[in-house]
Amino acid sequence: MNQTRNKKIGIFDSGLGGLYVARAVHKAMPEYDYVYMGDTMNVPYGGRSSEVIYQFSENAIRHLFEAHACDLVVIACNTASVTALAKLQREFLPQNYPDKRILGVIVPTLESATELGATQIGLIATEYTISSKIYDEEIAKITPSARIFGQPTPLLVPLIENQGEKYMDIVLNDYLEPIIEKGLDSLILGCTHYIAIKDQVRDMTHHRVRVLSQDEIIPPKLRDYLHRHPEMEERLSKNGTFSVFATDVSPSFLKNVQKLMGEGYIAQQVDY
Ligand code: DGL
Repeated sequence: MNQTRNKKIGIFDSGLGGLYVARAVHKAMPEYDYVYMGDTMNVPYGGRSSEVIYQFSENAIRHLFEAHACDLVVIACNTASVTALAKLQREFLPQNYPDKRILGVIVPTLESATELGATQIGLIATEYTISSKIYDEEIAKITPSARIFGQPTPLLVPLIENQGEKYMDIVLNDYLEPIIEKGLDSLILGCTHYIAIKDQVRDMTHHRVRVLSQDEIIPPKLRDYLHRHPEMEERLSKNGTFSVFATDVSPSFLKNVQKLMGEGYIAQQVDY
């Protein structure tokens, strides 16, 4: 089918963290057009109820579909992937947008871990992601012999968002020690924010465990998805643009965007 290339790739996160994933995707495939959406007004999602996380996610995705001509949206946020993805794919899309697609980060991350031979897998993430047990359920389908050792790490997002680097080592050490002792071969950073501290985690684990970071995992997985889905790839425009939107463009969000994307970079406020 020969469709006009006029659709964009949306990347959604609860706040800033997903921008690390979006930046890496953009770097790997600079030809496409990207729209990043951070729900900064409602971040953090990690301690909220599933109904609220679902509604925030649906609202953001509807906006990306309707206002930004996205036909493909990647939910970079682990907490939103865990909570909302299944319902969005099974109910929201078929009822409202049968030709559009929404992808999450959990299954691609576990596929990558498996491809690297991981079987004893540590997972650090928000309380919500750990208690959902979705990583455990999904790994059982992919590699039944593998085990997930989950550790909720609720202090990390506030430390990362509030320049708390100097306290990071002590907090990380406290969180990581009990799971490292279990003889892990890999450790998943199961929250977009943690990409910011991946080097610190690698140093702290003395490179004895493989630290799996989603900014390294998602770009090749998305490229692979587009290869396997030419009916989607053929719709995507190729002007190489990258726009950042947020529900609250606070001074600290803008500062962080410019730190990541370059000085003078603009983030636009949306209201939906
Ligand atoms: N971005 C979220 C995730 O990947 C973490 C931050 C939040 O709690 O909203 O899980």
